[in-house]
Amino acid sequence: MKPKLEFVDRLLGEIRKEDLYRNLRYGHVSGSHITIGTKKLINLCSNDYLGLEVKKSTTSQMQSSSRLVSGNDVSFKKLEKKLASHKSQEASLVFPTGYMANLGVISALVGKKDLILSDELNHASIIDACKITGARVQVYRHNDIEDLAKKIKHGKMRKFVITEGVFSMDGDFARLKEMTEVTEKNNAILILDDAHGDFAVGDDGKGTANLFGVEKKIDAYVSSLSKALGSFGGYVAAQDSVIDLCINRSKSFIYTSALPTFLVKMSLERIEQNRKTRQEALRKNTASLSSGLKEMGYDIKSPTHIIPIIIGNEKKTLDFGRYLFDNGVFAQPIRYPTVPKNSARIRVSVTAWISQKQVAHALSVFEKAGRKFKIL
Ligand SMILES: Cc1ncc(COP(=O)(O)O)c(C=O)c1O
Repeated sequence: MKPKLEFVDRLLGEIRKEDLYRNLRYGHVSGSHITIGTKKLINLCSNDYLGLEVKKSTTSQMQSSSRLVSGNDVSFKKLEKKLASHKSQEASLVFPTGYMANLGVISALVGKKDLILSDELNHASIIDACKITGARVQVYRHNDIEDLAKKIKHGKMRKFVITEGVFSMDGDFARLKEMTEVTEKNNAILILDDAHGDFAVGDDGKGTANLFGVEKKIDAYVSSLSKALGSFGGYVAAQDSVIDLCINRSKSFIYTSALPTFLVKMSLERIEQNRKTRQEALRKNTASLSSGLKEMGYDIKSPTHIIPIIIGNEKKTLDFGRYLFDNGVFAQPIRYPTVPKNSARIRVSVTAWISQKQVAHALSVFEKAGRKFKIL
């Protein structure tokens, strides 16, 4: 142990003391199951909401260069055209991840003199993106339109409102209809990160804005290809000029290697598939899991496939997660700093993979756990 690095152990000790320590677990995911060590569990922690199949023909070729150098395989063009039309926008741009798409579009559009209004539960990638712009950031209370309307009135600078579509840790929908009214009234630019709604909700999986009938009122979409599409990467969809600006100003696009071609092709294959039956299975599984939990007395507010069971105390949440694990159900305990302190939760994410029989088994384990930990 190097004396100059002793502080690292001290920091880890503090994290452990607060029951916030995380360790990596190795597992093998196959369909609706995950195997961890020798244990095969029902996987209720996956973002592969639709569980789409992929053809074996997908190549594994790599380009190992920035897209502005030699990494711009022609398959990007096809995928970006499809993504733009999927979002009813003029153009789109694929980034290596959704995280980088947020960094890229927000830093390209927002300048130091601007004002950002950001939902208090926005994802870490939005928070980081806001920081690098140097702009003034006003955080409004979660999904609180009155607070947003009040805060947006300050000053005459250019204004940006940034929200998630389906909130990643609470599973609720952003109040997009009211939000578009506020942004229109104040001539503000609305950026929607729909990583968890995209391909999963709305007509043909077009996402949350489509679901609420405000697709055209969104100025820039951000999404991930690694949630319901089950592939990898991120993208921005917007009017031509916004995409052009990203190509020219987004450091997370310019100064990084392109997404490997096989992943671009994988997204293309998946976006071309008919996803209707998978979306229907997702809806059915969500409805039965959610209504089952409600019927046994859990306080479930989420209307989507992300269903948090809020427990509060970090230690109790870890013990609850361990009990689920020991009984064949994998659902991740989520703690600070991903969610506020004392709002630790089990985040259940439903996929089309699981069968009704597995839903029934998971529900029986949740019922026993609820009683054991005095939540029910
Ligand atoms: C709301 C939201 N935005 C962006 C991202 C980042 O997407 P990616 O995993 O593709 O980097 C995530 C991923 O967890 C997310 O939940």
